This record gives sequence, structure tokens and C-alpha cells, in this order.
Amino acid sequence: MIKKNNILITGGAGYIGSHIIEKLNQKKFNIIIFDNLITGYKKLINKKAIFIKGDIKNKKKLLKIINNFQIDSIIHLAAYLNISEAEKNKKKYFKNNVIGTLNLVHACKNSNVRNIIFSSSCSVYGNVKGSVDERKKLNPKSYYAFTKYKAEEIIKRFSKKYKYKYGILRYFNVAGASSSGKIGEIEKSHGHLIKNISIQSLKKKPIISIYGNNYDTKDGTCIRDYIHISDLVDAHIKTFEYINKKCKSLILNCGYGKGYSVLDIVKIFKKYNNQLTINYKNRRTGDVGMVQANVKKIKNILKWKPKYNNIDKIIKSSIKWEKKLKFN
Ligand SMILES: NC(=O)c1ccc[n+]([C@@H]2O[C@H](COP(=O)([O-])OP(=O)(O)OC[C@H]3O[C@@H](n4cnc5c(N)ncnc54)[C@H](O)[C@@H]3O)[C@@H](O)[C@H]2O)c1
Repeated sequence: MIKKNNILITGGAGYIGSHIIEKLNQKKFNIIIFDNLITGYKKLINKKAIFIKGDIKNKKKLLKIINNFQIDSIIHLAAYLNISEAEKNKKKYFKNNVIGTLNLVHACKNSNVRNIIFSSSCSVYGNVKGSVDERKKLNPKSYYAFTKYKAEEIIKRFSKKYKYKYGILRYFNVAGASSSGKIGEIEKSHGHLIKNISIQSLKKKPIISIYGNNYDTKDGTCIRDYIHISDLVDAHIKTFEYINKKCKSLILNCGYGKGYSVLDIVKIFKKYNNQLTINYKNRRTGDVGMVQANVKKIKNILKWKPKYNNIDKIIKSSIKWEKKLKFN
């Protein structure tokens, strides 16, 4: 009988984690979800997986799980991710995103863990004109970005010592929902534009806040590179296969290489609800004007071919999910 891989997914009850789990071939893996449900949801927990409620700040519990379940691989998604909140509550973010990662990595000492995939963020690059590739010197501008940068450093630093390979995936802005219709983004507190605007677009008098219209961009609003969740999931599966097969670590941008301003996105949403009113507000601390991926590396190395790289598709998929959440 072929031995199944035991894979630990921290943050597996969240938006991105639940989508990765839905796609992972359940036959090949025993999936163990470790999540404290702070922004995760019972509804998003995959029924075929083992769920353990717990916090990555609890090193003892992590150690126990990694050893008891003989974990071979980890996908580490657990984190706080609200940029504004991080500026106001740095300690909380440091403990969760940095110390939590350090605990997880130390719990891999003398274990079976041979690979770790980590959810990093494009925010580690700071503000960049044009598209940015993985070799660019990191320049985190927000505290949230700083915690992701520190977590990357930790994962890299202990890789040799604890004998694991890593895949650091720098996600750009993730949006959209699974085509199964069963899962999507539920949490509203992260301040994600497409999520916020999808909620608003279902209202009679929708209103959307735009934070800053004096950035050095084509229309003064922030520019981001949006990636559909299903393509991001595919990047995880391919990274996982690559690390296992080649036994090599890698760092990859996960985006499409095309930037949209906040006003571009608003314009598209107006097709669905033209009542949308804009409320201009001050810039949010920590936000950068522009960040857009160079995706040559992921395409060359993983032969990753995105299927949903169309902003209309992403927005449609988000609205569809939001309708389901509201009316079911
Ligand atoms: N959504 C995006 O656009 C985006 C972009 C870049 C990076 N990321 C990263 O992707 C990861 C997943 O984000 P998401 O969008 O799915 O958010 P999410 O809030 O839906 O998922 C995070 C999950 O982690 C859990 N969690 C948080 N702290 C924990 C702790 N201390 N112990 C155990 N569980 C904990 C939460 O309950 C939640 O289920 C995060 O690391 C985030 O920084 C997301």
C-alpha cells in the first residue's frame, strides 16, 4: 500500500486555505487543519480533513501535532492580515505572524517535515513602479509587510538546519471563489477591495470608500495585481509537486502581471450596480501606491498557466459567491 502524505495546513479554515484543501487530492493526503478560527470559519472546514482548533502561538501543541501525525509537509497560512490594524497593534501582529512562524519552524526540528510552503505577500516589495521580480531587494513599508518579511527570513534561515525545503509564495491580491460554489471569502475585516465592493454591489444604495486619490499613479488611486483564487491554488499544487520531485526550495510571485487601479475596479463594478457611490478618504497608513508582479519565473519553472486571468471573471466570481452568502 502507498503511504499517504500527512500534510499540516495552518490557517486551513480561512479563505485561501479552504480552497487549497478542496483541490488537494484527498486520496494522496491525510490533511490536518490547525486553526484558531479567529478569522476562519467552521463552514469552510473541509469534511474530509482532520480539524484541530489551536493557535500557532502554542509551540507545545504544534510540536505534539507534528510528531503525533508524523507530518511530512506544511502549508503555513495562519496570520493576521489587516494592514491598518497592524499599524496600530504591532505587538499583536509580531506575536502572531513572526513568533507564530518561529514556533512552527522550531517544531519541525527532528521531525519528518521535508517541505514548507509559506503564504507571503507582494507587500514585502514596498512601492514599485513597473513589474517586480523575485530578485528585487525587499522593502516592506507597512508593519504587516514587515511581519511577512521576517517570517520569510525565519523559514529560509532554518531550512538547512532542520532539513526541509521551502516554497515561499508571494501572493498579490487574491479574489474570487471556487467554481464548486461551496466556498469563498467570508471574513469582511481584512479591507480587501473586491470583497468590500462585492458586498456593496448587492445593496440598494452601495457606497465604496477609496483611501487616497493622490498617489503617483495614472488616476491617483492605488494599483494592484489581482489573482483568482483557483489559479493561486494551482500554483500551490505545482509548487508542492516541484519541491517534492526536485528537492529544491523556491520563491515565486503569484499574480498575473497586470495592474488595475481602484477606479478601474469601481468602473467594472458599476456594470453590475451603477448606483455605486464613491466616498474619498485619506490614505491608509501602510498602503503603497503600486505593486505589480513579474510572473516569468512561476511560468518558466512551474509551467503554471493561469485560467482565470481576466478581471471580469474574478469580479463575477466574487459577486456570485457574495450573493450565495447573502441569500442562502
Ligand atoms: N488574501 C490575500 O489577498 C492575501 C494576499 C497576500 C498574502 N496573504 C496571506 O495568505 C494567508 C491566508 O490569508 P486568507 O486571505 O486566507 O485570510 P483568512 O483570514 O481567511 O485566513 C487566515 C487563517 O489563519 C487563521 N489564524 C490566524 N492566526 C492564527 C493563529 N495564531 N493560529 C492558528 N490560526 C490562525 C485564521 O483563523 C484564518 O482561518 C495569510 O498568511 C495572508 O497573510 C493573503
